[in-house]
Amino acid sequence: MSLVLGIGLRTGTSYRELRDLVYRALTGVVGAVESVVTVEGREDEPGLQRLVASLGAQLFTASSVDLAAQVVPTPSEQVGELAGTASVAEAAVVLSGAALVVPKQKSAGATVAVGVVEAAAPGYSHADREVVHRVIAERRDVRRGFLDKPVDDELLTRVLEAAHRAPSVGLSQPWDFLLIRDVATRQRVHDLAVAQRDAFAASLPADRRAAFDGLKIEAILDTPLNIAVTCDPARGGRHVLGRHADPRTVWFSAAIAVQNLWLAARAEGLGVGWVSFFDPAEVGEVLGLPAHVELLGYLCVGHVEEFAAAPELVRSGWASRRPLAWAVHQEQWGLRGLPGEVASATAAVRDAVASGGFEQVGSQVVRVLVVDGGSAASYLSAADVLVVQVGAEKPAADFGVLWRPARTADEAVELGVEVARDLVLQGAGELLVSCVGQSEVAESLTQGLRWGGLACGAVVRRADEPTAVTDSTA
Ligand SMILES: Cc1cc2nc3c(=O)[nH]c(=O)nc-3n(C[C@H](O)[C@H](O)[C@H](O)COP(=O)(O)O)c2cc1C
Repeated sequence: MSLVLGIGLRTGTSYRELRDLVYRALTGVVGAVESVVTVEGREDEPGLQRLVASLGAQLFTASSVDLAAQVVPTPSEQVGELAGTASVAEAAVVLSGAALVVPKQKSAGATVAVGVVEAAAPGYSHADREVVHRVIAERRDVRRGFLDKPVDDELLTRVLEAAHRAPSVGLSQPWDFLLIRDVATRQRVHDLAVAQRDAFAASLPADRRAAFDGLKIEAILDTPLNIAVTCDPARGGRHVLGRHADPRTVWFSAAIAVQNLWLAARAEGLGVGWVSFFDPAEVGEVLGLPAHVELLGYLCVGHVEEFAAAPELVRSGWASRRPLAWAVHQEQWGLRGLPGEVASATAAVRDAVASGGFEQVGSQVVRVLVVDGGSAASYLSAADVLVVQVGAEKPAADFGVLWRPARTADEAVELGVEVARDLVLQGAGELLVSCVGQSEVAESLTQGLRWGGLACGAVVRRADEPTAVTDSTA
Protein backbone atom coordinates (compact mmCIF):
# COMPACT_ATOMS: atom_id res chain seq x y z
CA MET A 1 0.00 0.00 0.00
CA SER A 2 1.39 3.37 -0.90
CA LEU A 3 0.99 6.20 1.63
CA VAL A 4 0.86 9.97 1.36
CA LEU A 5 1.65 12.29 4.25
CA GLY A 6 0.14 15.74 4.34
CA ILE A 7 2.26 17.95 6.59
CA GLY A 8 1.73 21.47 7.85
CA LEU A 9 4.51 23.02 9.93
CA ARG A 10 5.70 26.22 11.49
CA THR A 11 9.02 27.70 10.39
CA GLY A 12 11.85 26.07 12.30
CA THR A 13 10.04 22.88 13.34
CA SER A 14 12.73 20.34 14.12
CA TYR A 15 13.32 17.03 12.38
CA ARG A 16 12.93 15.23 15.69
CA GLU A 17 9.50 16.77 16.36
CA LEU A 18 8.32 15.92 12.85
CA ARG A 19 9.69 12.38 13.06
CA ASP A 20 7.96 11.65 16.37
CA LEU A 21 4.70 13.09 15.10
CA VAL A 22 4.82 11.09 11.86
CA TYR A 23 5.69 7.83 13.60
CA ARG A 24 2.80 8.35 15.98
CA ALA A 25 0.43 8.99 13.07
CA LEU A 26 1.68 5.92 11.22
CA THR A 27 1.13 3.53 14.12
CA GLY A 28 -0.97 0.66 12.84
CA VAL A 29 -0.95 1.88 9.23
CA VAL A 30 0.52 -0.60 6.77
CA GLY A 31 2.41 0.67 3.75
CA ALA A 32 5.35 2.74 2.58
CA VAL A 33 5.36 6.53 2.52
CA GLU A 34 5.96 7.47 -1.09
CA SER A 35 5.13 11.15 -1.01
CA VAL A 36 4.90 14.04 1.39
CA VAL A 37 2.84 17.07 0.49
CA THR A 38 3.06 20.46 2.18
CA VAL A 39 1.99 24.01 1.47
CA GLU A 40 4.07 26.13 -0.91
CA GLY A 41 6.78 28.03 0.97
CA ARG A 42 7.57 25.29 3.50
CA GLU A 43 9.47 22.97 1.18
CA ASP A 44 12.84 24.39 2.19
CA GLU A 45 12.37 23.74 5.89
CA PRO A 46 15.44 21.71 6.98
CA GLY A 47 13.48 19.55 9.41
CA LEU A 48 11.01 18.61 6.71
CA GLN A 49 13.69 17.93 4.13
CA ARG A 50 15.50 15.61 6.52
CA LEU A 51 12.27 13.79 7.31
CA VAL A 52 11.47 13.28 3.63
CA ALA A 53 14.98 11.99 2.97
CA SER A 54 14.80 9.59 5.91
CA LEU A 55 11.50 8.18 4.61
CA GLY A 56 12.89 7.80 1.10
CA ALA A 57 9.86 9.74 -0.12
CA GLN A 58 9.32 12.54 -2.61
CA LEU A 59 8.33 16.03 -1.50
CA PHE A 60 5.53 17.92 -3.25
CA THR A 61 3.93 21.27 -2.59
CA ALA A 62 0.44 22.61 -3.11
CA SER A 63 -0.78 26.20 -3.18
CA SER A 64 -2.84 27.48 -0.28
CA VAL A 65 -5.62 28.25 -2.79
CA ASP A 66 -5.81 24.62 -3.95
CA LEU A 67 -5.62 23.39 -0.37
CA ALA A 68 -8.39 25.75 0.70
CA ALA A 69 -10.66 24.28 -1.99
CA GLN A 70 -10.57 20.78 -0.40
CA VAL A 71 -13.28 19.50 1.89
CA VAL A 72 -11.67 18.10 5.04
CA PRO A 73 -13.05 16.61 8.25
CA THR A 74 -11.16 18.87 10.68
CA PRO A 75 -10.62 22.39 9.38
CA SER A 76 -9.13 24.96 11.75
CA GLU A 77 -9.84 28.68 11.80
CA GLN A 78 -6.45 29.40 13.32
CA VAL A 79 -4.61 27.56 10.54
CA GLY A 80 -6.86 29.39 8.08
CA GLU A 81 -5.62 32.74 9.33
CA LEU A 82 -1.96 31.72 9.35
CA ALA A 83 -1.70 29.65 6.18
CA GLY A 84 -4.57 30.90 3.99
CA THR A 85 -6.22 27.48 4.11
CA ALA A 86 -8.27 25.92 6.89
CA SER A 87 -6.20 22.76 6.62
CA VAL A 88 -2.76 21.90 5.30
CA ALA A 89 -2.27 18.30 6.41
CA GLU A 90 -5.68 16.83 5.57
CA ALA A 91 -6.24 19.00 2.50
CA ALA A 92 -2.85 17.97 1.11
CA VAL A 93 -3.81 14.31 1.42
CA VAL A 94 -7.21 14.85 -0.19
CA LEU A 95 -5.73 16.97 -2.96
CA SER A 96 -3.21 14.27 -3.77
CA GLY A 97 -6.11 11.92 -4.56
CA ALA A 98 -5.46 9.62 -1.61
CA ALA A 99 -8.07 8.34 0.82
CA LEU A 100 -7.61 9.94 4.23
CA VAL A 101 -6.98 7.15 6.74
CA VAL A 102 -5.48 9.08 9.66
CA PRO A 103 -7.01 12.49 10.28
CA LYS A 104 -4.93 15.39 11.49
CA GLN A 105 -2.50 14.72 14.37
CA LYS A 106 -0.77 17.64 16.07
CA SER A 107 2.48 18.46 17.80
CA ALA A 108 3.52 21.89 19.09
CA GLY A 109 4.62 23.14 15.70
CA ALA A 110 3.25 20.74 13.06
CA THR A 111 0.30 18.72 11.83
CA VAL A 112 0.26 15.50 9.86
CA ALA A 113 -2.44 13.45 8.16
CA VAL A 114 -2.04 10.12 6.38
CA GLY A 115 -3.65 8.98 3.15
CA VAL A 116 -3.63 5.73 1.26
CA VAL A 117 -3.32 5.65 -2.48
CA GLU A 118 -5.15 2.50 -3.44
CA ALA A 119 -3.99 0.61 -6.47
CA ALA A 120 -6.35 2.14 -8.97
CA ALA A 121 -6.75 2.60 -12.63
CA PRO A 122 -4.18 5.10 -13.78
CA GLY A 123 -5.74 8.45 -14.47
CA TYR A 124 -8.47 8.12 -11.86
CA SER A 125 -7.84 9.86 -8.59
CA HIS A 126 -9.57 8.84 -5.41
CA ALA A 127 -11.87 11.82 -5.88
CA ASP A 128 -12.75 10.72 -9.42
CA ARG A 129 -13.71 7.29 -8.19
CA GLU A 130 -15.78 8.80 -5.41
CA VAL A 131 -17.75 10.75 -8.00
CA VAL A 132 -18.54 7.58 -9.94
CA HIS A 133 -19.83 5.89 -6.81
CA ARG A 134 -21.72 9.00 -5.79
CA VAL A 135 -23.57 9.36 -9.07
CA ILE A 136 -24.53 5.68 -8.91
CA ALA A 137 -25.81 6.08 -5.35
CA GLU A 138 -27.58 9.36 -6.05
CA ARG A 139 -29.30 8.33 -9.28
CA ARG A 140 -33.04 8.26 -8.66
CA ASP A 141 -36.15 7.29 -10.53
CA VAL A 142 -37.92 10.65 -10.60
CA ARG A 143 -41.65 11.10 -11.04
CA ARG A 144 -42.33 14.49 -9.50
CA GLY A 145 -40.80 17.93 -9.08
CA PHE A 146 -40.05 18.50 -12.78
CA LEU A 147 -39.34 22.09 -13.83
CA ASP A 148 -41.04 23.86 -16.68
CA LYS A 149 -37.80 24.08 -18.65
CA PRO A 150 -36.95 22.53 -22.00
CA VAL A 151 -34.09 20.06 -22.30
CA ASP A 152 -31.32 21.72 -24.25
CA ASP A 153 -30.19 19.88 -27.40
CA GLU A 154 -26.50 19.82 -26.50
CA LEU A 155 -27.21 18.47 -23.07
CA LEU A 156 -29.54 15.84 -24.47
CA THR A 157 -26.93 14.80 -27.01
CA ARG A 158 -24.35 14.36 -24.26
CA VAL A 159 -26.72 12.15 -22.32
CA LEU A 160 -27.59 10.12 -25.41
CA GLU A 161 -23.91 9.73 -26.18
CA ALA A 162 -23.43 8.22 -22.74
CA ALA A 163 -26.27 5.79 -23.46
CA HIS A 164 -24.82 4.97 -26.83
CA ARG A 165 -21.47 4.05 -25.27
CA ALA A 166 -23.05 1.12 -23.45
CA PRO A 167 -21.53 -2.33 -23.84
CA SER A 168 -23.49 -4.65 -26.11
CA VAL A 169 -23.32 -8.29 -27.09
CA GLY A 170 -21.08 -8.68 -30.14
CA LEU A 171 -21.11 -4.86 -30.33
CA SER A 172 -24.58 -5.24 -31.82
CA GLN A 173 -25.79 -1.93 -30.29
CA PRO A 174 -29.41 -3.04 -30.49
CA TRP A 175 -30.91 0.18 -29.07
CA ASP A 176 -32.48 3.25 -30.65
CA PHE A 177 -33.85 6.34 -28.96
CA LEU A 178 -37.15 7.84 -30.07
CA LEU A 179 -37.48 11.38 -28.70
CA ILE A 180 -41.09 12.35 -28.09
CA ARG A 181 -42.13 15.90 -27.30
CA ASP A 182 -45.50 15.99 -29.03
CA VAL A 183 -48.23 16.37 -26.42
CA ALA A 184 -50.87 14.46 -28.38
CA THR A 185 -48.60 11.43 -28.70
CA ARG A 186 -47.68 11.61 -25.04
CA GLN A 187 -51.35 11.87 -24.12
CA ARG A 188 -52.06 8.61 -25.98
CA VAL A 189 -49.16 6.89 -24.25
CA HIS A 190 -50.40 8.30 -20.95
CA ASP A 191 -53.84 6.79 -21.55
CA LEU A 192 -52.22 3.38 -21.97
CA ALA A 193 -50.37 3.80 -18.67
CA VAL A 194 -53.54 4.83 -16.86
CA ALA A 195 -55.33 1.72 -18.12
CA GLN A 196 -52.45 -0.48 -16.90
CA ARG A 197 -52.41 1.32 -13.59
CA ASP A 198 -56.10 0.58 -13.11
CA ALA A 199 -55.58 -3.07 -14.03
CA PHE A 200 -52.72 -3.39 -11.54
CA ALA A 201 -54.72 -1.69 -8.79
CA ALA A 202 -57.60 -4.09 -9.40
CA SER A 203 -55.26 -7.06 -8.97
CA LEU A 204 -54.11 -5.99 -5.49
CA PRO A 205 -55.49 -6.99 -2.10
CA ALA A 206 -57.47 -4.13 -0.53
CA ASP A 207 -54.76 -2.91 1.91
CA ARG A 208 -52.08 -2.90 -0.76
CA ARG A 209 -54.42 -1.15 -3.20
CA ALA A 210 -54.94 1.66 -0.71
CA ALA A 211 -51.17 2.14 -0.45
CA PHE A 212 -50.80 1.99 -4.23
CA ASP A 213 -53.44 4.70 -4.68
CA GLY A 214 -51.04 7.19 -3.11
CA LEU A 215 -48.15 6.39 -5.44
CA LYS A 216 -47.23 8.28 -8.56
CA ILE A 217 -45.96 5.89 -11.21
CA GLU A 218 -45.24 8.07 -14.22
CA ALA A 219 -44.55 11.62 -15.37
CA ILE A 220 -45.40 11.26 -19.05
CA LEU A 221 -47.17 14.62 -19.29
CA ASP A 222 -45.15 16.35 -16.57
CA THR A 223 -41.85 16.31 -18.42
CA PRO A 224 -41.08 18.13 -21.67
CA LEU A 225 -39.46 15.04 -23.14
CA ASN A 226 -40.17 11.34 -23.28
CA ILE A 227 -37.68 8.85 -24.70
CA ALA A 228 -38.73 5.45 -25.96
CA VAL A 229 -35.69 3.19 -25.87
CA THR A 230 -36.14 0.34 -28.31
CA CYS A 231 -34.40 -2.93 -29.02
CA ASP A 232 -33.87 -4.62 -32.35
CA PRO A 233 -33.19 -8.21 -31.22
CA ALA A 234 -31.86 -9.27 -34.63
CA ARG A 235 -29.59 -6.30 -35.30
CA GLY A 236 -26.31 -7.26 -36.90
CA GLY A 237 -27.60 -10.30 -38.74
CA ARG A 238 -26.86 -13.93 -38.27
CA HIS A 239 -23.50 -14.20 -36.54
CA VAL A 240 -23.44 -11.64 -33.76
CA LEU A 241 -20.66 -12.73 -31.42
CA GLY A 242 -21.92 -14.04 -28.10
CA ARG A 243 -25.64 -13.81 -28.85
CA HIS A 244 -26.05 -17.28 -30.31
CA ALA A 245 -26.12 -19.06 -26.96
CA ASP A 246 -28.21 -16.55 -25.08
CA PRO A 247 -30.51 -14.32 -27.12
CA ARG A 248 -31.51 -12.42 -23.98
CA THR A 249 -28.16 -10.65 -24.18
CA VAL A 250 -29.48 -8.14 -26.71
CA TRP A 251 -32.07 -7.03 -24.17
CA PHE A 252 -29.43 -6.81 -21.46
CA SER A 253 -27.38 -4.61 -23.78
CA ALA A 254 -30.25 -2.21 -24.43
CA ALA A 255 -31.07 -2.05 -20.72
CA ILE A 256 -27.48 -1.08 -19.95
CA ALA A 257 -27.85 1.78 -22.42
CA VAL A 258 -30.74 3.03 -20.30
CA GLN A 259 -28.62 2.83 -17.18
CA ASN A 260 -25.85 4.84 -18.85
CA LEU A 261 -28.43 7.42 -19.88
CA TRP A 262 -29.85 7.49 -16.37
CA LEU A 263 -26.46 8.06 -14.73
CA ALA A 264 -25.35 10.73 -17.18
CA ALA A 265 -28.70 12.49 -16.77
CA ARG A 266 -28.27 12.45 -12.99
CA ALA A 267 -24.89 14.11 -13.26
CA GLU A 268 -26.43 16.75 -15.56
CA GLY A 269 -29.34 17.52 -13.21
CA LEU A 270 -31.92 15.79 -15.41
CA GLY A 271 -34.50 13.60 -13.73
CA VAL A 272 -35.46 10.34 -15.44
CA GLY A 273 -38.48 8.20 -14.63
CA TRP A 274 -38.88 4.77 -16.21
CA VAL A 275 -42.47 3.77 -16.94
CA SER A 276 -43.31 0.13 -17.50
CA PHE A 277 -47.08 0.23 -17.01
CA PHE A 278 -47.55 -0.77 -20.64
CA ASP A 279 -48.12 -3.57 -23.01
CA PRO A 280 -45.03 -2.83 -25.13
CA ALA A 281 -46.84 -3.71 -28.35
CA GLU A 282 -49.54 -1.10 -27.64
CA VAL A 283 -46.92 1.59 -27.13
CA GLY A 284 -45.18 0.41 -30.29
CA GLU A 285 -48.42 0.94 -32.16
CA VAL A 286 -48.99 4.44 -30.79
CA LEU A 287 -45.42 5.36 -31.66
CA GLY A 288 -45.60 3.74 -35.08
CA LEU A 289 -42.61 1.49 -34.46
CA PRO A 290 -41.74 -0.95 -37.23
CA ALA A 291 -42.82 -4.44 -36.25
CA HIS A 292 -39.27 -5.79 -35.87
CA VAL A 293 -38.40 -3.12 -33.28
CA GLU A 294 -39.61 -3.60 -29.72
CA LEU A 295 -40.04 -1.19 -26.83
CA LEU A 296 -37.46 -1.75 -24.12
CA GLY A 297 -38.14 1.20 -21.83
CA TYR A 298 -40.17 4.37 -21.77
CA LEU A 299 -38.47 7.28 -20.03
CA CYS A 300 -39.82 10.62 -18.82
CA VAL A 301 -37.02 13.17 -18.82
CA GLY A 302 -36.78 16.73 -17.53
CA HIS A 303 -34.90 19.15 -15.33
CA VAL A 304 -35.44 18.85 -11.61
CA GLU A 305 -34.24 20.95 -8.74
CA GLU A 306 -33.43 18.09 -6.45
CA PHE A 307 -33.08 14.36 -6.25
CA ALA A 308 -34.49 12.50 -3.28
CA ALA A 309 -31.97 10.79 -1.03
CA ALA A 310 -33.84 7.47 -1.19
CA PRO A 311 -36.08 5.73 -3.74
CA GLU A 312 -39.67 6.93 -3.79
CA LEU A 313 -40.90 3.41 -3.05
CA VAL A 314 -38.75 3.32 0.07
CA ARG A 315 -39.84 6.75 1.26
CA SER A 316 -43.49 5.85 0.80
CA GLY A 317 -43.04 2.58 2.71
CA TRP A 318 -44.07 0.50 -0.31
CA ALA A 319 -40.84 -1.49 -0.48
CA SER A 320 -37.37 -1.66 1.05
CA ARG A 321 -33.91 -2.06 -0.35
CA ARG A 322 -32.40 -5.51 -0.11
CA PRO A 323 -29.19 -5.69 1.93
CA LEU A 324 -26.17 -6.49 -0.23
CA ALA A 325 -25.24 -9.34 2.10
CA TRP A 326 -28.44 -11.14 1.09
CA ALA A 327 -27.49 -10.94 -2.54
CA VAL A 328 -23.91 -12.19 -2.32
CA HIS A 329 -23.24 -15.93 -2.18
CA GLN A 330 -19.83 -17.37 -1.47
CA GLU A 331 -18.80 -20.34 -3.60
CA GLN A 332 -22.14 -22.06 -3.20
CA TRP A 333 -25.70 -20.84 -3.55
CA GLY A 334 -27.14 -20.13 -0.12
CA LEU A 335 -23.88 -19.28 1.61
CA ARG A 336 -24.70 -15.63 1.76
CA GLY A 337 -22.59 -12.81 3.09
CA LEU A 338 -20.32 -9.98 2.12
CA PRO A 339 -16.78 -10.76 0.99
CA GLY A 340 -14.85 -11.89 4.03
CA GLU A 341 -17.88 -12.88 6.10
CA VAL A 342 -19.08 -16.27 4.93
CA ALA A 343 -22.21 -17.45 6.66
CA SER A 344 -25.05 -19.76 5.86
CA ALA A 345 -28.42 -18.10 5.46
CA THR A 346 -29.89 -20.16 8.23
CA ALA A 347 -27.23 -19.23 10.77
CA ALA A 348 -27.45 -15.57 9.83
CA VAL A 349 -31.19 -15.62 10.19
CA ARG A 350 -31.08 -17.31 13.56
CA ASP A 351 -28.76 -14.53 14.73
CA ALA A 352 -31.10 -11.94 13.31
CA VAL A 353 -34.06 -13.49 15.11
CA ALA A 354 -32.15 -13.24 18.36
CA SER A 355 -31.21 -9.62 17.72
CA GLY A 356 -34.77 -8.69 16.81
CA GLY A 357 -35.75 -7.62 13.40
CA PHE A 358 -35.63 -5.35 10.48
CA GLU A 359 -36.45 -1.67 10.52
CA GLN A 360 -39.20 -1.16 7.98
CA VAL A 361 -42.01 -3.68 8.25
CA GLY A 362 -45.22 -3.09 6.33
CA SER A 363 -48.75 -3.96 7.28
CA GLN A 364 -49.69 -6.23 4.42
CA VAL A 365 -50.97 -9.68 5.34
CA VAL A 366 -49.88 -12.40 2.91
CA ARG A 367 -51.38 -15.85 3.04
CA VAL A 368 -48.58 -18.14 1.98
CA LEU A 369 -49.47 -21.64 0.89
CA VAL A 370 -46.58 -24.04 0.64
CA VAL A 371 -47.56 -26.67 -1.89
CA ASP A 372 -45.63 -29.76 -2.93
CA GLY A 373 -46.58 -30.39 -6.54
CA GLY A 374 -50.24 -30.29 -7.53
CA SER A 375 -52.08 -27.54 -9.25
CA ALA A 376 -50.96 -24.33 -7.54
CA ALA A 377 -53.19 -22.20 -9.73
CA SER A 378 -56.29 -23.51 -8.01
CA TYR A 379 -55.40 -21.51 -4.87
CA LEU A 380 -54.95 -18.18 -6.56
CA SER A 381 -58.45 -16.74 -6.69
CA ALA A 382 -57.83 -14.57 -3.59
CA ALA A 383 -55.45 -11.66 -4.22
CA ASP A 384 -53.64 -11.99 -0.87
CA VAL A 385 -52.54 -15.59 -1.52
CA LEU A 386 -49.05 -16.49 -2.62
CA VAL A 387 -48.35 -20.11 -3.49
CA VAL A 388 -44.84 -21.35 -2.91
CA GLN A 389 -44.50 -24.52 -4.90
CA VAL A 390 -41.76 -26.99 -4.07
CA GLY A 391 -41.01 -29.99 -6.26
CA ALA A 392 -38.97 -30.35 -9.40
CA GLU A 393 -41.74 -29.75 -11.89
CA LYS A 394 -41.89 -26.15 -13.04
CA PRO A 395 -45.39 -24.68 -12.78
CA ALA A 396 -46.96 -22.53 -15.48
CA ALA A 397 -45.75 -18.94 -15.30
CA ASP A 398 -47.82 -16.89 -12.86
CA PHE A 399 -46.58 -14.27 -10.41
CA GLY A 400 -48.93 -15.80 -7.84
CA VAL A 401 -46.78 -18.93 -7.80
CA LEU A 402 -43.21 -18.86 -6.58
CA TRP A 403 -41.42 -21.97 -7.74
CA ARG A 404 -38.84 -23.06 -5.18
CA PRO A 405 -37.61 -26.52 -6.21
CA ALA A 406 -35.62 -27.28 -3.08
CA ARG A 407 -33.31 -30.26 -3.53
CA THR A 408 -32.80 -30.95 0.17
CA ALA A 409 -34.50 -30.07 3.42
CA ASP A 410 -31.67 -27.65 4.29
CA GLU A 411 -32.02 -25.90 1.00
CA ALA A 412 -35.76 -25.67 1.56
CA VAL A 413 -35.16 -23.87 4.85
CA GLU A 414 -32.91 -21.37 3.14
CA LEU A 415 -35.31 -20.81 0.29
CA GLY A 416 -38.10 -20.28 2.80
CA VAL A 417 -35.98 -17.74 4.64
CA GLU A 418 -35.34 -15.91 1.42
CA VAL A 419 -38.99 -15.89 0.34
CA ALA A 420 -40.09 -14.46 3.69
CA ARG A 421 -37.40 -11.81 3.73
CA ASP A 422 -38.19 -10.70 0.21
CA LEU A 423 -41.90 -10.53 1.01
CA VAL A 424 -41.13 -8.23 3.92
CA LEU A 425 -39.11 -6.07 1.54
CA GLN A 426 -42.27 -5.82 -0.58
CA GLY A 427 -44.45 -4.57 2.26
CA ALA A 428 -45.53 -7.75 4.08
CA GLY A 429 -45.93 -7.39 7.84
CA GLU A 430 -47.69 -10.64 8.54
CA LEU A 431 -47.33 -14.05 6.96
CA LEU A 432 -50.14 -16.48 7.45
CA VAL A 433 -48.53 -19.74 6.45
CA SER A 434 -50.11 -23.06 5.63
CA CYS A 435 -48.46 -26.15 4.31
CA VAL A 436 -50.53 -28.21 1.92
CA GLY A 437 -49.34 -31.81 2.00
CA GLN A 438 -46.80 -33.18 4.41
CA SER A 439 -43.50 -33.57 2.62
CA GLU A 440 -40.27 -32.91 4.50
CA VAL A 441 -39.19 -30.32 1.97
CA ALA A 442 -42.48 -28.42 2.25
CA GLU A 443 -42.29 -28.49 6.04
CA SER A 444 -38.67 -27.30 5.95
CA LEU A 445 -39.54 -24.45 3.65
CA THR A 446 -42.35 -23.52 6.02
CA GLN A 447 -39.83 -23.46 8.86
CA GLY A 448 -37.61 -21.20 6.76
CA LEU A 449 -40.53 -18.86 6.13
CA ARG A 450 -41.04 -18.64 9.85
CA TRP A 451 -37.38 -17.83 10.59
CA GLY A 452 -37.02 -15.41 7.72
CA GLY A 453 -40.19 -13.54 8.57
CA LEU A 454 -39.41 -13.34 12.27
CA ALA A 455 -35.86 -12.22 11.57
CA CYS A 456 -37.27 -9.26 9.68
CA GLY A 457 -39.74 -8.35 12.41
CA ALA A 458 -42.84 -9.69 10.68
CA VAL A 459 -45.55 -11.65 12.45
CA VAL A 460 -45.60 -15.25 11.27
CA ARG A 461 -48.49 -17.56 12.03
CA ARG A 462 -49.50 -20.98 10.89
CA ALA A 463 -52.89 -20.52 9.30
CA ASP A 464 -54.41 -22.87 11.82
CA GLU A 465 -52.71 -21.21 14.79
CA PRO A 466 -54.78 -18.60 16.59
CA THR A 467 -51.89 -16.54 17.98
CA ALA A 468 -48.75 -15.04 16.56
CA VAL A 469 -45.49 -16.90 16.77
CA THR A 470 -42.95 -14.73 18.55
CA ASP A 471 -39.79 -16.76 18.74
CA SER A 472 -37.64 -18.90 16.51
CA THR A 473 -37.85 -22.03 18.55
CA ALA A 474 -41.61 -22.39 18.07
C1 LIG B 1 -37.25 -1.79 -15.68
C2 LIG B 1 -37.81 -0.77 -14.74
C3 LIG B 1 -39.14 -0.42 -14.82
C4 LIG B 1 -39.66 0.54 -13.95
N1 LIG B 1 -40.98 0.92 -14.07
C5 LIG B 1 -41.47 1.87 -13.27
C6 LIG B 1 -42.80 2.34 -13.44
O1 LIG B 1 -43.56 1.91 -14.29
N2 LIG B 1 -43.23 3.31 -12.64
C7 LIG B 1 -42.45 3.83 -11.65
O2 LIG B 1 -42.91 4.71 -10.92
N3 LIG B 1 -41.17 3.43 -11.49
C8 LIG B 1 -40.67 2.48 -12.29
N4 LIG B 1 -39.37 2.09 -12.14
C9 LIG B 1 -38.52 2.71 -11.12
C10 LIG B 1 -38.35 1.86 -9.89
O3 LIG B 1 -39.50 1.91 -9.09
C11 LIG B 1 -37.13 2.40 -9.13
O4 LIG B 1 -36.01 2.23 -9.92
C12 LIG B 1 -36.91 1.70 -7.79
O5 LIG B 1 -37.97 1.94 -6.94
C13 LIG B 1 -35.62 2.17 -7.13
O6 LIG B 1 -35.61 3.56 -7.02
P1 LIG B 1 -34.43 4.44 -7.61
O7 LIG B 1 -34.39 4.16 -9.09
O8 LIG B 1 -34.78 5.86 -7.28
O9 LIG B 1 -33.17 3.99 -6.95
C14 LIG B 1 -38.84 1.14 -12.99
C15 LIG B 1 -37.50 0.78 -12.93
C16 LIG B 1 -36.98 -0.15 -13.79
C17 LIG B 1 -35.52 -0.50 -13.71
